[in-house]
Amino acid sequence: MKRIRYTEKGPDYSQIIAGTMRWGKWGQGFTISEYQEMIAHCLSQGITSFDHADIYGAYTTEAEFGEALDGMGVDRSSIQIISKCGIGYPSENRPAFTVKHYNVTSDYIRDAVTKSLQNLRSEYLDMLLIHRPSALMDYQAMARTFEQLVNEGTVKEIGVSNFTKDQFDALHRLFPLATNQLEISVLETAYLDSHFVGTAFSEGIRFQSWSPLGGTTLFNPELQNDIDRKNRLTKVAQRMDMSLSDLALRFVLSTPFEISPVIGTSKKHRITESINCLANPLTSQEWFDVWTEAKGHKVA
Ligand SMILES: NC(=O)c1ccc[n+]([C@@H]2O[C@H](COP(=O)([O-])OP(=O)(O)OC[C@H]3O[C@@H](n4cnc5c(N)ncnc54)[C@H](OP(=O)(O)O)[C@@H]3O)[C@@H](O)[C@H]2O)c1
Repeated sequence: MKRIRYTEKGPDYSQIIAGTMRWGKWGQGFTISEYQEMIAHCLSQGITSFDHADIYGAYTTEAEFGEALDGMGVDRSSIQIISKCGIGYPSENRPAFTVKHYNVTSDYIRDAVTKSLQNLRSEYLDMLLIHRPSALMDYQAMARTFEQLVNEGTVKEIGVSNFTKDQFDALHRLFPLATNQLEISVLETAYLDSHFVGTAFSEGIRFQSWSPLGGTTLFNPELQNDIDRKNRLTKVAQRMDMSLSDLALRFVLSTPFEISPVIGTSKKHRITESINCLANPLTSQEWFDVWTEAKGHKVA
Protein backbone atom coordinates (compact mmCIF):
# COMPACT_ATOMS: atom_id res chain seq x y z
CA MET A 1 0.00 0.00 0.00
CA LYS A 2 1.38 3.36 -1.03
CA ARG A 3 2.00 5.67 1.94
CA ILE A 4 1.27 9.38 1.93
CA ARG A 5 3.05 11.97 4.07
CA TYR A 6 1.18 15.26 4.30
CA THR A 7 3.63 17.38 6.29
CA GLU A 8 7.36 17.12 6.87
CA LYS A 9 7.15 15.44 10.26
CA GLY A 10 4.48 12.97 9.24
CA PRO A 11 3.20 10.42 10.16
CA ASP A 12 2.69 8.42 6.97
CA TYR A 13 -0.85 7.34 6.14
CA SER A 14 -2.11 4.55 3.90
CA GLN A 15 -3.21 6.10 0.61
CA ILE A 16 -6.59 4.42 0.96
CA ILE A 17 -8.26 5.56 4.17
CA ALA A 18 -11.12 3.69 5.83
CA GLY A 19 -14.07 6.01 6.49
CA THR A 20 -16.10 5.10 9.55
CA MET A 21 -19.18 7.31 9.00
CA ARG A 22 -21.42 4.40 8.01
CA TRP A 23 -19.99 1.76 10.41
CA GLY A 24 -22.05 2.74 13.43
CA LYS A 25 -25.47 4.24 14.03
CA TRP A 26 -25.44 6.19 10.75
CA GLY A 27 -25.21 2.97 8.76
CA GLN A 28 -24.48 -0.65 9.54
CA GLY A 29 -24.80 -0.43 13.32
CA PHE A 30 -21.70 -2.59 13.82
CA THR A 31 -21.34 -4.41 17.13
CA ILE A 32 -17.98 -3.99 18.86
CA SER A 33 -16.81 -7.33 17.49
CA GLU A 34 -17.90 -6.30 13.97
CA TYR A 35 -15.84 -3.11 14.35
CA GLN A 36 -12.93 -5.28 15.40
CA GLU A 37 -13.33 -7.59 12.39
CA MET A 38 -13.47 -4.62 10.04
CA ILE A 39 -10.47 -2.89 11.63
CA ALA A 40 -8.49 -6.15 11.51
CA HIS A 41 -9.41 -6.69 7.86
CA CYS A 42 -8.35 -3.14 6.93
CA LEU A 43 -5.02 -3.65 8.69
CA SER A 44 -4.51 -7.02 6.95
CA GLN A 45 -4.89 -5.20 3.62
CA GLY A 46 -2.45 -2.43 4.54
CA ILE A 47 -5.11 0.18 5.30
CA THR A 48 -3.82 1.67 8.54
CA SER A 49 -5.57 5.04 8.47
CA PHE A 50 -9.13 5.60 9.74
CA ASP A 51 -11.30 8.65 9.20
CA HIS A 52 -13.73 9.86 11.88
CA ALA A 53 -15.69 12.94 12.85
CA ASP A 54 -17.01 13.73 16.29
CA ILE A 55 -20.57 13.86 14.89
CA TYR A 56 -20.63 10.41 13.24
CA GLY A 57 -23.45 8.31 14.65
CA ALA A 58 -24.67 11.48 16.39
CA TYR A 59 -21.50 11.53 18.54
CA THR A 60 -21.38 7.74 19.12
CA THR A 61 -19.11 6.19 16.47
CA GLU A 62 -15.78 7.40 17.85
CA ALA A 63 -16.53 5.80 21.23
CA GLU A 64 -17.55 2.49 19.66
CA PHE A 65 -14.41 2.46 17.52
CA GLY A 66 -12.30 3.37 20.57
CA GLU A 67 -13.76 0.51 22.59
CA ALA A 68 -13.18 -1.91 19.71
CA LEU A 69 -9.59 -0.79 19.21
CA ASP A 70 -8.87 -0.95 22.93
CA GLY A 71 -9.85 -4.62 22.94
CA MET A 72 -7.63 -5.53 20.01
CA GLY A 73 -4.21 -4.78 21.44
CA VAL A 74 -3.23 -2.84 18.32
CA ASP A 75 -0.04 -0.79 18.67
CA ARG A 76 -1.36 2.80 18.51
CA SER A 77 1.69 3.97 16.57
CA SER A 78 0.92 1.46 13.80
CA ILE A 79 -2.39 3.14 12.90
CA GLN A 80 -3.38 6.71 12.08
CA ILE A 81 -6.59 8.28 13.35
CA ILE A 82 -8.08 11.31 11.63
CA SER A 83 -11.02 13.11 13.19
CA LYS A 84 -12.99 16.25 12.48
CA CYS A 85 -14.80 18.88 14.49
CA GLY A 86 -16.62 22.13 13.92
CA ILE A 87 -20.18 20.99 13.19
CA GLY A 88 -22.71 21.31 16.01
CA TYR A 89 -25.19 18.54 15.34
CA PRO A 90 -28.43 18.61 17.36
CA SER A 91 -29.01 15.22 18.94
CA GLU A 92 -29.76 13.63 22.29
CA ASN A 93 -26.02 13.57 22.94
CA ARG A 94 -25.81 17.36 22.53
CA PRO A 95 -29.11 18.65 24.00
CA ALA A 96 -27.75 22.22 24.10
CA PHE A 97 -27.63 22.34 20.28
CA THR A 98 -31.00 23.54 19.04
CA VAL A 99 -29.94 24.07 15.43
CA LYS A 100 -27.26 22.57 13.20
CA HIS A 101 -24.44 25.08 13.15
CA TYR A 102 -20.68 25.54 12.81
CA ASN A 103 -18.33 26.52 15.60
CA VAL A 104 -14.58 26.92 15.08
CA THR A 105 -13.74 29.06 18.09
CA SER A 106 -10.72 28.10 20.16
CA ASP A 107 -12.73 26.85 23.14
CA TYR A 108 -14.99 24.76 20.94
CA ILE A 109 -12.15 23.15 18.99
CA ARG A 110 -10.16 22.39 22.16
CA ASP A 111 -13.21 20.88 23.87
CA ALA A 112 -14.03 18.80 20.77
CA VAL A 113 -10.48 17.41 20.63
CA THR A 114 -10.62 16.49 24.33
CA LYS A 115 -13.92 14.66 23.81
CA SER A 116 -12.67 12.86 20.67
CA LEU A 117 -9.57 11.66 22.51
CA GLN A 118 -11.68 10.37 25.42
CA ASN A 119 -14.03 8.57 23.03
CA LEU A 120 -11.25 7.11 20.91
CA ARG A 121 -9.27 6.15 24.04
CA SER A 122 -6.20 7.74 22.53
CA GLU A 123 -3.67 10.25 23.77
CA TYR A 124 -3.43 12.00 20.42
CA LEU A 125 -5.05 12.42 17.02
CA ASP A 126 -2.76 11.96 14.05
CA MET A 127 -4.79 14.49 12.10
CA LEU A 128 -7.54 16.92 13.06
CA LEU A 129 -9.69 18.41 10.30
CA ILE A 130 -12.02 21.38 10.54
CA HIS A 131 -15.13 19.72 9.14
CA ARG A 132 -16.65 22.66 7.26
CA PRO A 133 -15.77 26.33 6.76
CA SER A 134 -17.85 28.66 8.91
CA ALA A 135 -19.00 32.12 7.88
CA LEU A 136 -17.73 33.19 11.32
CA MET A 137 -14.17 31.87 10.99
CA ASP A 138 -11.49 33.99 12.67
CA TYR A 139 -8.53 32.70 10.68
CA GLN A 140 -5.85 34.08 12.97
CA ALA A 141 -7.49 32.72 16.12
CA MET A 142 -7.81 29.31 14.44
CA ALA A 143 -4.14 29.30 13.48
CA ARG A 144 -3.16 30.13 17.10
CA THR A 145 -5.35 27.29 18.39
CA PHE A 146 -3.82 24.87 15.89
CA GLU A 147 -0.33 25.81 17.04
CA GLN A 148 -1.25 25.25 20.69
CA LEU A 149 -2.75 21.82 19.98
CA VAL A 150 0.28 20.69 18.02
CA ASN A 151 2.68 22.05 20.65
CA GLU A 152 0.75 20.26 23.40
CA GLY A 153 1.02 17.01 21.43
CA THR A 154 -2.71 16.22 21.42
CA VAL A 155 -2.82 16.57 17.63
CA LYS A 156 0.07 15.77 15.29
CA GLU A 157 -1.14 17.70 12.26
CA ILE A 158 -4.15 19.72 11.22
CA GLY A 159 -6.04 20.22 8.00
CA VAL A 160 -9.47 21.22 6.79
CA SER A 161 -12.40 19.80 4.88
CA ASN A 162 -14.74 21.32 2.33
CA PHE A 163 -12.71 24.55 2.14
CA THR A 164 -12.69 26.56 -1.09
CA LYS A 165 -9.35 27.57 -2.61
CA ASP A 166 -9.56 31.09 -1.15
CA GLN A 167 -10.44 29.79 2.33
CA PHE A 168 -7.70 27.15 2.17
CA ASP A 169 -5.03 29.58 0.97
CA ALA A 170 -5.93 32.18 3.61
CA LEU A 171 -5.60 29.69 6.47
CA HIS A 172 -2.57 27.95 4.97
CA ARG A 173 -0.70 31.26 4.93
CA LEU A 174 -1.15 31.40 8.74
CA PHE A 175 -0.67 27.71 9.57
CA PRO A 176 0.77 24.88 7.43
CA LEU A 177 -2.35 22.83 6.71
CA ALA A 178 -1.88 19.11 6.10
CA THR A 179 -4.73 18.56 3.67
CA ASN A 180 -8.20 19.49 2.47
CA GLN A 181 -10.73 16.64 2.49
CA LEU A 182 -13.11 17.33 -0.38
CA GLU A 183 -15.88 15.54 -2.21
CA ILE A 184 -14.06 14.26 -5.28
CA SER A 185 -15.56 11.47 -7.34
CA VAL A 186 -16.85 10.55 -10.73
CA LEU A 187 -20.03 12.40 -9.69
CA GLU A 188 -18.20 15.47 -8.36
CA THR A 189 -15.24 16.63 -10.45
CA ALA A 190 -15.38 20.38 -9.76
CA TYR A 191 -12.15 20.50 -7.71
CA LEU A 192 -10.31 18.62 -10.46
CA ASP A 193 -11.84 20.67 -13.28
CA SER A 194 -10.89 23.93 -11.53
CA HIS A 195 -7.29 22.65 -11.00
CA PHE A 196 -7.58 23.25 -7.23
CA VAL A 197 -6.25 19.75 -6.55
CA GLY A 198 -3.55 19.98 -9.22
CA THR A 199 -2.20 23.39 -8.22
CA ALA A 200 -2.15 22.43 -4.53
CA PHE A 201 -0.25 19.25 -5.45
CA SER A 202 2.33 21.37 -7.30
CA GLU A 203 2.92 23.10 -3.94
CA GLY A 204 3.36 19.77 -2.15
CA ILE A 205 -0.17 19.46 -0.73
CA ARG A 206 -2.06 16.17 -0.97
CA PHE A 207 -5.84 16.14 -0.79
CA GLN A 208 -8.25 13.49 0.44
CA SER A 209 -11.57 12.66 -1.21
CA TRP A 210 -14.75 11.83 0.62
CA SER A 211 -17.55 9.77 -0.96
CA PRO A 212 -15.06 8.55 -3.60
CA LEU A 213 -17.44 5.76 -4.65
CA GLY A 214 -20.25 8.25 -5.14
CA GLY A 215 -21.68 7.71 -1.67
CA THR A 216 -24.94 5.85 -1.90
CA THR A 217 -26.07 7.96 -4.84
CA LEU A 218 -24.59 5.61 -7.42
CA PHE A 219 -25.93 2.48 -5.77
CA ASN A 220 -29.22 3.37 -4.12
CA PRO A 221 -32.06 2.19 -6.41
CA GLU A 222 -34.45 4.48 -4.54
CA LEU A 223 -32.56 7.54 -5.73
CA GLN A 224 -33.97 7.79 -9.23
CA ASN A 225 -32.61 11.25 -9.91
CA ASP A 226 -29.68 11.29 -12.26
CA ILE A 227 -30.60 7.85 -13.58
CA ASP A 228 -29.28 8.58 -17.07
CA ARG A 229 -25.83 9.35 -15.69
CA LYS A 230 -25.85 6.18 -13.59
CA ASN A 231 -26.83 4.14 -16.64
CA ARG A 232 -24.07 5.68 -18.76
CA LEU A 233 -21.48 4.98 -16.02
CA THR A 234 -22.75 1.41 -15.62
CA LYS A 235 -22.29 0.87 -19.35
CA VAL A 236 -18.77 2.29 -19.40
CA ALA A 237 -17.87 0.05 -16.40
CA GLN A 238 -19.19 -2.98 -18.31
CA ARG A 239 -17.25 -1.90 -21.40
CA MET A 240 -14.06 -1.62 -19.31
CA ASP A 241 -14.84 -4.95 -17.61
CA MET A 242 -14.94 -3.71 -14.03
CA SER A 243 -17.58 -3.11 -11.37
CA LEU A 244 -19.14 0.33 -11.00
CA SER A 245 -17.52 0.85 -7.59
CA ASP A 246 -14.11 -0.16 -8.99
CA LEU A 247 -14.60 2.27 -11.87
CA ALA A 248 -15.48 5.06 -9.42
CA LEU A 249 -12.48 4.35 -7.19
CA ARG A 250 -10.03 4.04 -10.08
CA PHE A 251 -11.28 7.39 -11.38
CA VAL A 252 -10.15 9.04 -8.11
CA LEU A 253 -6.92 7.03 -7.90
CA SER A 254 -5.87 7.62 -11.52
CA THR A 255 -4.89 11.29 -11.31
CA PRO A 256 -1.23 12.30 -10.85
CA PHE A 257 -2.13 14.07 -7.59
CA GLU A 258 -1.87 11.22 -5.05
CA ILE A 259 -5.43 11.79 -3.83
CA SER A 260 -6.32 9.65 -0.81
CA PRO A 261 -9.82 8.22 -1.13
CA VAL A 262 -11.70 7.89 2.16
CA ILE A 263 -13.81 4.87 1.30
CA GLY A 264 -17.00 4.39 3.25
CA THR A 265 -17.73 0.75 2.63
CA SER A 266 -18.81 -1.56 5.43
CA LYS A 267 -17.98 -4.66 3.39
CA LYS A 268 -14.67 -6.49 3.74
CA HIS A 269 -14.70 -7.64 0.12
CA ARG A 270 -14.93 -4.03 -1.11
CA ILE A 271 -11.93 -3.16 1.09
CA THR A 272 -9.99 -5.97 -0.62
CA GLU A 273 -11.18 -4.88 -4.07
CA SER A 274 -10.02 -1.32 -3.38
CA ILE A 275 -6.44 -2.58 -3.10
CA ASN A 276 -6.64 -4.04 -6.61
CA CYS A 277 -7.83 -0.66 -7.90
CA LEU A 278 -4.60 0.96 -6.68
CA ALA A 279 -2.58 -1.44 -8.82
CA ASN A 280 -4.67 -0.86 -11.94
CA PRO A 281 -5.01 2.83 -12.78
CA LEU A 282 -7.00 4.10 -15.76
CA THR A 283 -5.07 5.53 -18.70
CA SER A 284 -5.62 9.22 -19.49
CA GLN A 285 -7.92 8.29 -22.35
CA GLU A 286 -9.94 5.91 -20.16
CA TRP A 287 -10.16 8.60 -17.45
CA PHE A 288 -11.61 11.10 -19.93
CA ASP A 289 -13.89 8.40 -21.30
CA VAL A 290 -15.37 8.05 -17.79
CA TRP A 291 -15.44 11.85 -17.34
CA THR A 292 -17.33 12.18 -20.64
CA GLU A 293 -19.97 9.64 -19.62
CA ALA A 294 -20.28 11.24 -16.16
CA LYS A 295 -20.85 14.70 -17.68
CA GLY A 296 -22.82 13.64 -20.70
CA HIS A 297 -20.61 15.70 -23.02
CA LYS A 298 -17.09 15.70 -24.43
CA VAL A 299 -14.27 17.95 -23.26
CA ALA A 300 -13.91 21.17 -25.28
N1 LIG B 1 -15.39 15.56 5.16
C1 LIG B 1 -16.68 15.43 4.92
O1 LIG B 1 -17.45 16.40 4.89
C2 LIG B 1 -17.22 14.05 4.68
C3 LIG B 1 -18.53 13.88 4.19
C4 LIG B 1 -19.00 12.57 3.97
C5 LIG B 1 -18.15 11.50 4.21
N2 LIG B 1 -16.90 11.69 4.72
C6 LIG B 1 -15.96 10.56 4.94
O2 LIG B 1 -15.88 9.83 3.73
C7 LIG B 1 -16.17 8.46 3.97
C8 LIG B 1 -16.81 7.87 2.76
O3 LIG B 1 -18.04 8.52 2.49
P1 LIG B 1 -19.25 7.73 1.86
O4 LIG B 1 -19.55 6.53 2.67
O5 LIG B 1 -20.32 8.72 1.59
O6 LIG B 1 -18.61 7.33 0.49
P2 LIG B 1 -18.36 6.16 -0.52
O7 LIG B 1 -17.18 5.38 -0.13
O8 LIG B 1 -18.36 6.88 -1.82
O9 LIG B 1 -19.69 5.27 -0.46
C9 LIG B 1 -19.85 4.22 0.41
C10 LIG B 1 -21.26 3.72 0.25
O10 LIG B 1 -21.45 3.21 -1.08
C11 LIG B 1 -21.90 1.88 -1.00
N3 LIG B 1 -21.34 1.09 -2.10
C12 LIG B 1 -20.11 1.16 -2.61
N4 LIG B 1 -19.96 0.30 -3.63
C13 LIG B 1 -21.15 -0.35 -3.75
C14 LIG B 1 -21.65 -1.35 -4.63
N5 LIG B 1 -20.88 -1.86 -5.61
N6 LIG B 1 -22.91 -1.78 -4.45
C15 LIG B 1 -23.69 -1.26 -3.47
N7 LIG B 1 -23.28 -0.30 -2.62
C16 LIG B 1 -22.03 0.15 -2.76
C17 LIG B 1 -21.36 1.38 0.33
O11 LIG B 1 -22.15 0.27 0.75
P3 LIG B 1 -21.43 -1.01 1.44
O12 LIG B 1 -21.22 -0.65 2.86
O13 LIG B 1 -22.44 -2.09 1.22
O14 LIG B 1 -20.15 -1.25 0.71
C18 LIG B 1 -21.53 2.60 1.22
O15 LIG B 1 -22.87 2.71 1.67
C19 LIG B 1 -17.05 8.48 5.22
O16 LIG B 1 -17.01 7.24 5.92
C20 LIG B 1 -16.42 9.57 6.02
O17 LIG B 1 -15.30 9.08 6.72
C21 LIG B 1 -16.42 12.95 4.94
